[in-house]
Amino acid sequence: MNVHSRTVARTVARAVARAVGLTIAFIAHGACLSQPATTQPARPWMNASLSPDVRADMVIRQLTLDEKIQLVHGIGWGPLMPGRPVPPDNNGGAGEVIGIARLGIPSLQQADSAVGIRMAAQQSRYATLLPSVLAAASSWDPEAAHLYGDVIGRELRAQGYNQSIGGGVNLARDPRNGRLFEYAGEDPLLAGVTVGHVIRGVQDNQIMGDIKHYAFNDQETGRMIVDVRISKKAARESDLLAFELGIRIGRPSSVMCSYNKVMADWACENDWLLNHVLKGAWHFPGFVVSDWDGTHSTDKAAMAGLDMQMPGDEYFGEALKHAVSSDRVPMRRLDDMVHRLLRSMFSAGVIDQPATPRRVVDPFRGLEDAQHIAEESIVLLKNDGTLPLHFASVRSIAVIGAHADVGVLSGGGSAQVDAPGGNAISPTTPTKWGEAVYFPSSPLRYIREHARGVAVQFDAGTNASSAASLAKSADVAIVFADQYMSESGDSPTLSLPGKQNELISAVAAANPHTVVVLITGNPVTMPWIDQVAGVMEAWYPGIGGGQAIANLIFGDVAPSGKLPITFAKSEGDLPHEHIFGLTPHSADGNALGYWAADDQKRPGFAADYNEGARFGYKWFDSEGKQPLFPFGYGLSYTKFKYSDLQVDSAAKTVTFTLENTGALNGTEIAEVYVGLPKAGGERFRRLAGWQRVAVDSGQQRVVTVPLEPLAIATFDEKKDAWAWASGKYTVSVGGSSRDLPLQAEVALY
Ligand code: BGC
Repeated sequence: MNVHSRTVARTVARAVARAVGLTIAFIAHGACLSQPATTQPARPWMNASLSPDVRADMVIRQLTLDEKIQLVHGIGWGPLMPGRPVPPDNNGGAGEVIGIARLGIPSLQQADSAVGIRMAAQQSRYATLLPSVLAAASSWDPEAAHLYGDVIGRELRAQGYNQSIGGGVNLARDPRNGRLFEYAGEDPLLAGVTVGHVIRGVQDNQIMGDIKHYAFNDQETGRMIVDVRISKKAARESDLLAFELGIRIGRPSSVMCSYNKVMADWACENDWLLNHVLKGAWHFPGFVVSDWDGTHSTDKAAMAGLDMQMPGDEYFGEALKHAVSSDRVPMRRLDDMVHRLLRSMFSAGVIDQPATPRRVVDPFRGLEDAQHIAEESIVLLKNDGTLPLHFASVRSIAVIGAHADVGVLSGGGSAQVDAPGGNAISPTTPTKWGEAVYFPSSPLRYIREHARGVAVQFDAGTNASSAASLAKSADVAIVFADQYMSESGDSPTLSLPGKQNELISAVAAANPHTVVVLITGNPVTMPWIDQVAGVMEAWYPGIGGGQAIANLIFGDVAPSGKLPITFAKSEGDLPHEHIFGLTPHSADGNALGYWAADDQKRPGFAADYNEGARFGYKWFDSEGKQPLFPFGYGLSYTKFKYSDLQVDSAAKTVTFTLENTGALNGTEIAEVYVGLPKAGGERFRRLAGWQRVAVDSGQQRVVTVPLEPLAIATFDEKKDAWAWASGKYTVSVGGSSRDLPLQAEVALY
């Protein structure tokens, strides 16, 4: 058959299928066959005034068993796995679920898009690299988070996708987790709010959103064999609370269940996680999709609440059809799976407003938005007054290390975005999984643009003594240090990789005006902290990173980000000194200590989360440990004063006055923490609200912060419900979890 006759055959087949479908539709809706066809809409589910649930059920009544099965699994990693069949309409993303063309149900085109769209290069497309999600969380700005999602959503739409499979919200229980850059830090409220708003931004573009990895995929080491053990109370008050808030705010179409086990059951066939908590307690109406190859069974998974196997058909293809035909899985349950998918598609708008025609993404708008988010999220950790740099006193600058002459580092794995023009440090080499990719946003270039008339010289930092001698000859040294992190590996330690600590110490010894800019996925230790004049944590700052860093260094933008995660002084201060399951062999010297591929070669192991909900700042506070930098910490170029605390217990709001007492304008993130009544025995405060407030020099603002009720609740396992204690709560307000000048004791419930 030639191409033309194939097309004709396909068109005829489609027409026949459509006619058959229409006939079935009419019968199913009790339409009288003698009635003129024109009085009935051909596809009544296309009536957008009906609810997504009604529309989904109308479609389900038209579906054959095979079509239902077709909608609960898909293909994936197609372009990544040569030799696997790729359907003609495949859009090149991580997954595709083939739609039902005869009923006008489009295929689901799913794209990894944690920090921007992945796999654009294969299609010769461009995608904006945003700062890491951890960076977005450092802005403590729901509007920036929404913008983050908007960039992803509009670019997905331009490229013909209709689902994002980003939305990572796993909490930073272990600061060495390789995927921390994809997540929003250690606090359930901050993480849930950040990711919830990212999802909203995505979905405002009529793109289906997702939240992942549900749940407790808090380390990469052994992610496919680890069994997480935690009490239900601690689970609900920590990791699951981040999901609960993220889902409440973002209303994502799907939840991706994770690879690991939780209390002996795989997350993707865990009745408690999926049926009981997600669909029961939270009334989640969307669908549960397995992480890629995270499905382990047919009957058990289907009955435990998994709605879609991705990718492949081993469990939710013929095997599920057989299970339904033999009534081991009731048809009602299969219909529920399909209903959840279809109602999400209707609700998100991907059927009414499909992503056509395709467009070229707007790289300029993407750059501007990415840079704006980076500027809000870079955290100034130390400053002896050297920053911002002033031309009057600075005639020469030494810029050192981390390929700052060509670009900024990005995070790897399924969050890897392809760099325009190729990897900035090696443009012609194809990028492989696990290899560091630099984006062409050179800090050196933008420092030079700011410092016209100043001698700016670069040293690669590969030889500490040559870097030190350049630093010695300059008025100021700016050392860049970076840390590559990726899915499928964790960092065995909190140290900067390689010899970067030695480099920084050598430069700082040569020049007292040494400023360190960190481009890291995770918190790191800083053995040189007392030797340097300043430190900026820029995270993975995205495609506008070079510009953003330079703007902060020169004071065009006031630093305002604050840490969404505690920086520990050493691994010994963490709840677990070593990563669960990290073998001595896997820890020997690599930047990434462990590769998940090793999972197939060894037995499973348990991760006992005996710290419960007490990790991050809650751990450091209750153990009386001094962190290197506390949660919520970040400096500005000005100073803020807090006064006049008032707590309205009925309205559950906290009001205070914030004054900018410094010489420069600035933005403060004002944080509210609450300690529960003492009788409960909890020995830490919880973040309960905050506000990002711009205040000009000499001005003051009255700020009111609503308290999030779930952030100050405890989970009662016996009643299987949230509870609020009576008694006096301690409300504290200030600029970080360790700097809380205002305090009040009040009964809130
Ligand atoms: C990751 C997911 C990702 C999926 C598809 C998995 O290995 O854990 O986050 O969405 O692959 O690429």
